[in-house]
Amino acid sequence: MAEIGHDIELAAEILRNGGVVAIPTETVYGLAANALNTDAVAKIYEIKQRPSFNPLILHLANAAQMQRFAKDIPHGAKILAETFWPGPITLVLPKQAIVPDLTTAGHSSVALRVPNHPVTLQLLELLDFPLAAPSANPSGYISPTKAEHVQENLGDKISYILDGGPCKIGLESTIVSFVDKQAEILRFGAITQEQISNYIDIIRTPTIAPFENIIAPGMLSSHYAPKTTLIFGEITLESGVRNSPNNVLLNFQNYKIFVPEATQFILSKSGNLEEAAKNLFEMLRKIDSMEVDKIFAEPAPSFGIGLAINDRLRRASINVNNENKFGN
Ligand code: TXA
Ligand code: MG
Repeated sequence: MAEIGHDIELAAEILRNGGVVAIPTETVYGLAANALNTDAVAKIYEIKQRPSFNPLILHLANAAQMQRFAKDIPHGAKILAETFWPGPITLVLPKQAIVPDLTTAGHSSVALRVPNHPVTLQLLELLDFPLAAPSANPSGYISPTKAEHVQENLGDKISYILDGGPCKIGLESTIVSFVDKQAEILRFGAITQEQISNYIDIIRTPTIAPFENIIAPGMLSSHYAPKTTLIFGEITLESGVRNSPNNVLLNFQNYKIFVPEATQFILSKSGNLEEAAKNLFEMLRKIDSMEVDKIFAEPAPSFGIGLAINDRLRRASINVNNENKFGN
């Protein structure tokens, strides 16, 4: 098992020696290694069983470091960095040669972010290299929002988990790409489209099929996925929730009257989207450990971080067997 602790110096030492450490961020826990050391980065791919074509995010100590790793940085990207860093937004930009191809999975672009967590910012200040860090889960599974989640899934593969408490946001960062010069949102997250639009124009957002036309498996990549089958959509009597007493409901705000309350989980009783986001992955993990038949999850209101919640639930609902899996 890994040691869970608060020793930032020890974490820095392991990382300087080319090792891998789980680190806290405000979004989810990351599995970190020296982003400029290909042997170290290779360990991340190995531990997560991550497909080699899926690039990693570089975590920086501050926005001033951007130029070292990215070039041709558009004005809009600088504005987002100044406005939202440290914070839950990742910027994809043309990469500098110093970033190894393995870290970006062969892409000519690099994803950068300054995480907003005091422990990890302190750690980054101690290091003279950036940290490559995907979410600290086995590829395709639910991202960890507590040190114990990392221990459960990867504790036998790493030696140290730097404990920074529960993640404040609980969902991965928003990703904005500037590789075509104009801003495109690649992944919804805590920094919302509305917030970004206050500063710059967005030309594209992830396409989302309407809930009524439940999307055919195969159209989307499966990840954030529990082992239990998850059905995503409005929950009604017709959804089949009563077909088995071992089905569980994951509701946004209210209990459904047609099933026992004991089989229902609520993301936010007050209907608060931020609270729902923070609870989402932990509740999914908990339900997944209960050996239930099926999980029925309803959409959150689709604005703000609700878009990110629905994005993760939709991907969690995709049957891995029908999928060309592209896990994170
Ligand atoms: O909040 C977060 O972003 C967390 C914490 C640990 O910082 N990290 C995270 O990393 O979610 P990961 O690897 O689980 O997801 C990163 C996503 C992947 O979908 C990857 O394909 C995409 O970022 N990505 C990374 N580099 C990219 C690039 N150059 N171009 C396009 N997408 C990229
Ligand atoms: Mg991930």
